[in-house]
Amino acid sequence: MKYNLSEITHLIRNRRSVAPEQYSSRKVHREQLELILTNGTWAPNHGMTQPWRYKVFMEDGMKKLEDFLPDLYRSKTPAEKFKESKFERLKSRLAHVSAVVVICMERDKSGKIPENEEIEAVACSVQNMMLTAVAYGLACYWSTPGFIYSDEMKQFLGLQDQDRCLGLFYVGYPGGEWPQSHRKPLEYVTEWFTE
Ligand SMILES: Cc1cc2nc3c(=O)[nH]c(=O)nc-3n(C[C@H](O)[C@H](O)[C@H](O)COP(=O)(O)O)c2cc1C
Repeated sequence: MKYNLSEITHLIRNRRSVAPEQYSSRKVHREQLELILTNGTWAPNHGMTQPWRYKVFMEDGMKKLEDFLPDLYRSKTPAEKFKESKFERLKSRLAHVSAVVVICMERDKSGKIPENEEIEAVACSVQNMMLTAVAYGLACYWSTPGFIYSDEMKQFLGLQDQDRCLGLFYVGYPGGEWPQSHRKPLEYVTEWFTE
């Protein structure tokens, strides 16, 4: 065996989405984020377009998100769907966490690669990021509230029309119990064709 398969299997299965309100107040360091993101860049991608773009908000930069995102949620949500509790939760999440990476896809200018494949490559990148975060003992969470897909969000991030914002990646030290999860058995999701 070239790598420690039991450790890697444990890492993969023990990765959990941990909501930011579960994080302690301990701050994530820039060096940790640099390794997390660098590992993100080692994801597979069709045509080597490397479509992932990471917008990191931390330290004083967090204020920019705090000032923008809750108001964006309010302005992009029809009145009948708007929930004050969600608005407050977003505000308190942003006030609580020490770093958020906004996950983006920058479309290859040649347009040779189908858009869904560029999005898939970014999703692979996020998985690398999550596994690296967990290996550090950090918790993380990929969140995709509807307003992140708005033109206002693109403008805020300096994205072009053809690019996409794909989510908010919260990262922090876990403050409570590590969540448990489950998966459907392999038989349920697999068909074997052997003859
Ligand atoms: C593309 C993507 C978007 C997600 N968006 C949200 C979200 O908006 N809110 C949320 O609570 N969880 C979100 N999640 C996390 C899932 O809820 C979580 O992965 C799922 O419940 C399985 O739990 P686990 O990640 O701990 O295994 C997202 C996950 C993915 C892959």
